Amino acid sequence: MSWHDLAGKNMISVKDWSKEELDILLKVAGDLKSRHYSGESLNILENETFMMLFFNSSTRTRQSFEAGMSQLGGHSQFLAPETMRISINREPGGGESIKDTTRVMGRYSEGVGVRILEDKVDYYGQGTEIMYEMGKYSSVPIINMASDIYHPCQSMTDIMTMQEKVGDLKDKKIAVTWAYSPWVRSWGSIQSNILTSALFGMDVNLAHPAGYDLDPDVLDMTEENAKKSGGSFTVTNDMDEAIEDADIVYPRNWMSPDRYEIGKEKEIEMAGQHKEWKYTKEKQETADPGHLLHCMPVDRGNEVSDEIMDDPDLSFVYDQAENRLHLQKGLMALTMEGEF
Ligand code: CP
Repeated sequence: MSWHDLAGKNMISVKDWSKEELDILLKVAGDLKSRHYSGESLNILENETFMMLFFNSSTRTRQSFEAGMSQLGGHSQFLAPETMRISINREPGGGESIKDTTRVMGRYSEGVGVRILEDKVDYYGQGTEIMYEMGKYSSVPIINMASDIYHPCQSMTDIMTMQEKVGDLKDKKIAVTWAYSPWVRSWGSIQSNILTSALFGMDVNLAHPAGYDLDPDVLDMTEENAKKSGGSFTVTNDMDEAIEDADIVYPRNWMSPDRYEIGKEKEIEMAGQHKEWKYTKEKQETADPGHLLHCMPVDRGNEVSDEIMDDPDLSFVYDQAENRLHLQKGLMALTMEGEF
């Protein structure tokens, strides 16, 4: 296939892209990163506009997409839905439909990014459903900037970073482990990471306390991906078991499957029963070597100790955050018909 075959393609989940397409994305992202560092001025998306519809807050995603469009010679527009006519409430009189808003956005832009999750949705899956609905009506690619189920820009950045740092991912072991935080966070980054890491041939060890199971459909797809790639996928309720001999450790909090029934306060109370689920130096000493991967923001002192966060030999997190920029430049250049 040609790079140009990716023009117009939505990126809502990595499950909708083939391994070959994802490899092209990584190649283009790596190339754009090298060209950025060699000081080359690029106008791949000159005169193009990327719309960014943020229902939820962001540090990295907004800044990296915005900087990425500037670096490619285009422009991005930050959109706060409360300043627009759109409503995800389907009641008559609730506001402008998703269909109409999406069709109009495509008349002004060459790509649309959306973030919707956590307290902005009424039930698990609604944010992702909205993105697929937008994808149905949009004349330009829809890019998931984090939904309640998936965060593909993050998970492809995770792969890019791990490949840069440890090389071929086949037979490398990643421990993706629940960690304590009162922030009670969403599932997208973790679910996308296990899906994608398994697709790239890693041995994925998922660990969480009882009661924090991930989406069964995502677990099934991860198992399938591991079978296809020659990797493996295991699930345990023992953090130490998952971390032992791991090349990479990804300690991150997530909510229980009952979040939308029991509410946030109850979630915080439940999470508080597992404060020992923290990535510490003591645990790292059992890994091999247990480099830290994390989508950020990190709850320092809860999810992971400062000692590991601030150890440049162990922590990948700032390079990983930077790679959001390069990965998303590759994604926009490919899907928004960039002039390479
Ligand atoms: N990892 C990530 O998506 O960060 P932000 O929430 O700050 O965008």
